[in-house]
Amino acid sequence: MSSKEKEPEGELQTAKGMRDILGEEWLAYQGFLEKAAELAIYYGFRPLETPILERASLFERGTGADTDIVSKEMYLTRTRGGDTLALRPEFTPSVMRAYLENGLQAEPQPVMLYSSGPLFRHDRPQRGRYRQFYQFNLDALGTAKAVTDALIIKLLLTTLGEAGLKNLRLEINSLGDKECRPIFRRELANYYRKHARELCEDCRERLKENPLRLLDCKNPKCQELKEAAPESVGYLCAACKSHFREVLEHLEMLEIPYEINHQLVRGLDYYTRTVFEIFDPTVTNEAGLPLALAGGGRYDYLARALGYKKEVPAVGGAIGLERMMLSPHYRRQPPRIIKKPKIFFIQLSFDAKLKAISVIEILRQARIPMAQSIAKDSLGTQLGLAEKLAVPHTIILGQKEALENTVIVRDMQNRSQEVVPLAKLADYLKVNIKHLTK
Ligand code: HAM
Repeated sequence: MSSKEKEPEGELQTAKGMRDILGEEWLAYQGFLEKAAELAIYYGFRPLETPILERASLFERGTGADTDIVSKEMYLTRTRGGDTLALRPEFTPSVMRAYLENGLQAEPQPVMLYSSGPLFRHDRPQRGRYRQFYQFNLDALGTAKAVTDALIIKLLLTTLGEAGLKNLRLEINSLGDKECRPIFRRELANYYRKHARELCEDCRERLKENPLRLLDCKNPKCQELKEAAPESVGYLCAACKSHFREVLEHLEMLEIPYEINHQLVRGLDYYTRTVFEIFDPTVTNEAGLPLALAGGGRYDYLARALGYKKEVPAVGGAIGLERMMLSPHYRRQPPRIIKKPKIFFIQLSFDAKLKAISVIEILRQARIPMAQSIAKDSLGTQLGLAEKLAVPHTIILGQKEALENTVIVRDMQNRSQEVVPLAKLADYLKVNIKHLTK
């Protein structure tokens, strides 16, 4: 972070670009992640959880030292032992590291992994762009087959679709491999060198480091030049051409509409061949520009870039949860841990409070979803809460019941009630009240 930039004042505020995710909102995150994991498992993916802190060099070598993510946006920390660690800005280098470190190349290929969690990029916060954000990430490692590119795209679209998203637009391109990409890069650099004076300052720098990234520039001056720039697909070698054709054939078979975007290069260094992004036309940034909800591609040389002796062809992609949730079509998915309460537990008097936690535990062990307000004393307040929740039954524990080790079970509809010994409560509820544990 630049030393000039001020964080919000006071310990009672989160750092800039960071936020708390509370109650209902976190349950929505959890509901989505559960559903996404379930879909991924149907498709044959396995879970992978990587550390939030990794060696900074993993991203310098993997994501690329010259990318914005690494050169400008990475949160770095020095350990007491003198190592430089980074808060992960993305998953892909960690996924490849984990695959190699855990010997997964010895297992049947491809190894398909899903990961999710918070990522950190120190960018200027705005709508759809946060310093801490969440991704659901899919990767298939150990195969170059075009069918895996299509599988990743299909599953990302299905996952977004299950969350209610509609009218998604898939943009796709191929960047070629080590045979043909250098030729395209050279042609692109030649083209831009001829127009160097018309370029923005950043792009003049990019021209020296990585001319492919000129195609990423959003500056209107550079936008015009992009229109006439050479296109990567025009330079693909025979193998890359046939790989790209196969990916598109798979998409057609799956009836997934796509647009070839010749200017799609993505801001990360490791991509080869397929790159793609998924848009919802209604999700835009503050300037009204479309925001990609998901993006990914093939990264056949990442393992080598990280120092591994062999190439490990791989492909993957990730959904940004916050951007997905910006869509007006997005529907919250309830997580499995949430159970609608069937019973409200009312306790009255100090003696009842002494037993209250034991009653909660009896219901928990019997897997009966319940609600309570254990700090409240008055019957009226507690009954009011029970009515608000529209629970079919209440359990009342008063002074008398506490001393006799009983409770009153009350039917909220017909107002009938019965005294039940605490020791028999779970059995009584299961026998007498239908659909209790559903
Ligand atoms: P990415 O395009 O940098 O790709 O991020 C993927 C998605 O994460 C974006 O489409 C967006 O929804 C979300 N995202 C990215 N940055 C932010 C941010 N600052 N605030 C909110 N959301 C954000 C990758 O990260 C690659 N590692 C994807 C991949 C997996 N490629 C191969 N495997």
